[in-house]
Amino acid sequence: MSKVDLSVNFCGMHLKNPVLLASGTIGYGNEIAQFTDINNLGGIVTKSLSLKPRKGNPPPRIIETSSGMLNAIGLANVGVEAFIKDKIPFLKELNTTIFCNIAASTIDEYVECVHILTSEDTINAFEINVSCPNVKEGGLEFGNDLQTVGRITEKIRSVTKKPIIIKLSPNVSRISAFAKVVKEEGGNAVSAINTLVGTSFDINTRRPKLYNITGGLSGPAIKPIALAKVLEIKRTVDIPIIGIGGIMNWRDAVEMMIVGASAFQIGTVNFINPNAGAEIVEGLISYCEKKSISKVSELTGSYQI
Ligand SMILES: Cc1cc2nc3c(=O)[nH]c(=O)nc-3n(C[C@H](O)[C@H](O)[C@H](O)COP(=O)(O)O)c2cc1C
Repeated sequence: MSKVDLSVNFCGMHLKNPVLLASGTIGYGNEIAQFTDINNLGGIVTKSLSLKPRKGNPPPRIIETSSGMLNAIGLANVGVEAFIKDKIPFLKELNTTIFCNIAASTIDEYVECVHILTSEDTINAFEINVSCPNVKEGGLEFGNDLQTVGRITEKIRSVTKKPIIIKLSPNVSRISAFAKVVKEEGGNAVSAINTLVGTSFDINTRRPKLYNITGGLSGPAIKPIALAKVLEIKRTVDIPIIGIGGIMNWRDAVEMMIVGASAFQIGTVNFINPNAGAEIVEGLISYCEKKSISKVSELTGSYQI
């Protein structure tokens, strides 16, 4: 038995460890459960939910790029009603922290989703996606506007006592300004980052490879950007951060914590190795043992500049 304390106190929640599975890469938990034991992880973030079901964009909606992938799923999801009826029963049986991710086309829709879902005991916290690059309304139009992000945070705060984590867009010049607004309007934490807008063309047909033309870039290609954004927030605003972007192994995870993340999410790697989360947990234990670190949370913001 390791003596390393991997647990993290995040917004008053006890996470078993800082490893979380990112929204959109594991369905509602059920899609990855047969490949890995979710209960050994700190938590999972469910696919972005909107009030009504969404079909998303037509295919092709995922392509591989150098050291990453582009996706333009367009927030396909089952909607709040079916989530409660069909997905909550599975999530209820899990022994890990459940973050419910919400995406919406209007501020009122965000509020209504959270208002309905906050009474579900299975949901421990809300992650609010104001940064999807693949939808017309809601996505970047909201995530790029300080006032709108502030208003969304404030309005959601008024309908739930559960932790609110706002998932920020990297497609802005000063991400820390958004983190500041989230804090001022009563948000508990921020997640950084969502995907970066990118595209790819077929040189023979000269046509875009994605039906949507542009998509969100994720994977190792975005890690240095994610690290820089998390560091910027950490150095500017006193708010807990969930670090996301290009984490493929425990080394990447340690780096993300050092620049300021209290916990982190893994996304793209789940498509390559659905057991990556468990392997990262093992790697964190060995690293902490070797470095005589008794609590993994000591790593958060421990950079030396
Ligand atoms: C196929 C795919 C679907 C995604 N869907 C969502 C989503 O519904 N909501 C959301 O907030 N983020 C979504 N994301 C973004 C991820 O949660 C994460 O922020 C991003 O992929 C960066 O992390 P990574 O480099 O570890 O993949 C999606 C990412 C991918 C690759």
